[in-house]
Amino acid sequence: EKAEIGLIGLGVMGSNLALNIAEKGNRIAVYNRTVDKTRAFYAGAGDLQKNIVPTETLSEFVAAIRPPRPIIIMIKAGDPVDQEIEKLRPYLGNGDIIIDAGNANFHDTRRRFQELEGTGLTFIGMGVSGGEEGARHGPSIMVGGTEDSYARVEKVLTSISAKYAEDPCCAWLGPDGAGHFVKTIHNGIEYADMQMIAEIYGILRDGVGMSASEIAHVFSEWNDGRLNSFLIEITAKVLTATDPETGKAMPDIIVDAAGQKGTGRWSAIEAQQLAVPATVIEAAVAARCLSSMRGERKAAEPMFNKEELEFSIPPGPWLNRDLELALFAAKIAAYAQGFDVMASASEQYGWNLPMPEIARIWRAGCIIRSQFLDEITKAFSETPDVANLIVTPAFAAMVNECLPSLRRIVAAATSAGLPVPGLASALTYFDAYRQSRGTANLIQAQRDFFGAHGFDRLDGLDIHHGPWGSGAA
Ligand code: 6PG
Repeated sequence: EKAEIGLIGLGVMGSNLALNIAEKGNRIAVYNRTVDKTRAFYAGAGDLQKNIVPTETLSEFVAAIRPPRPIIIMIKAGDPVDQEIEKLRPYLGNGDIIIDAGNANFHDTRRRFQELEGTGLTFIGMGVSGGEEGARHGPSIMVGGTEDSYARVEKVLTSISAKYAEDPCCAWLGPDGAGHFVKTIHNGIEYADMQMIAEIYGILRDGVGMSASEIAHVFSEWNDGRLNSFLIEITAKVLTATDPETGKAMPDIIVDAAGQKGTGRWSAIEAQQLAVPATVIEAAVAARCLSSMRGERKAAEPMFNKEELEFSIPPGPWLNRDLELALFAAKIAAYAQGFDVMASASEQYGWNLPMPEIARIWRAGCIIRSQFLDEITKAFSETPDVANLIVTPAFAAMVNECLPSLRRIVAAATSAGLPVPGLASALTYFDAYRQSRGTANLIQAQRDFFGAHGFDRLDGLDIHHGPWGSGAA
């Protein structure tokens, strides 16, 4: 019996996705460049072997799938994907669908989509979130491509995706690069969430002097409240774990230099390209970069005077409550910015991205999953044309409630010399966004002074240059 779907690339994500597909009753053919991996994968598949067709050459692989064939490629993003498509193409026939499930740059996805247009083959760019565990038991799936091609894989994809209550966390989001773009922004928000959690950890560790296990307790309490989310939950868990080698708390033995593979950075780059302020996401990317400059940080520390600074808020339930609300307010800013970038990209690329739907499929399966996303779905459904998430009535009310806490925490952390770039960017974003009279009038005057760039007047008079006199351009 032929397989109904194929998968190339049996790395960690690919093999887990393949097992998930097989487990949901779909017959799947698998192929990996190194044959040993395919054999090992099949040998370890247990009961699921009955739904798996292991193959050792590309022609055998393609022949094992019933046409028109959906073929998932789950390999390292970038050139390897182009090479794989080139190798695969000679074996494919009319109507076959190539599905790139890696963390691709959406510009590549758009190009690949266009390259295959008119060849009889179609391309789907599919964002998959949830790490290893998600891939195996239910990821969040963000699909970009033609609606027709999605209709042909919808059944398999919704069968393997995470479910929020009964609702599958899988959707077609728009043409060509839409799915990979949304995955990129998901990761940008993921970076922001992680960075701000780390900043709160820093306040508790360095400002308050708490141990990892004491801090774990705080996060674990928050997980029962409005911050409830996968990232808060695992933060409590990693803070609780002890190192079997030394008996120390795990976070205390890990080098403070964060890695990154690019998707977070891409979201900041795209925000800049689209002229959308995504300051919290940008701050999170920059903070990872600064974290990795460990040698420079070490060399710099002794060069500057040790200031006698103190974190002024006493420890206890009041502080914990303030930190919780501060983190919540800042989280709102990060998500509002991420959705703003998506709204702008949607217009730029003609995607018509469905905002409530995006928040809906992020509620389960993905790394940033949380109940909070349910609120976003509601807010965007109720006010679809709103300029920004923070000015929906529900979110404006939440910001009003939590902003004083964010202000107190950022002020106290800054006065204590504790870096909080994510939280501070969020605070400044709110302060700037709601300021009807800003300070760019001065910038306009400067631009006109040195470059005669012109300005508009508040009184509407049709005069666009200032009386700068000699010395001005
Ligand atoms: C997910 C994750 C996943 C991965 C990224 C981010 O949604 O499942 O985002 O895709 O963790 O590659 O990794 P970096 O932190 O290395 O950029």
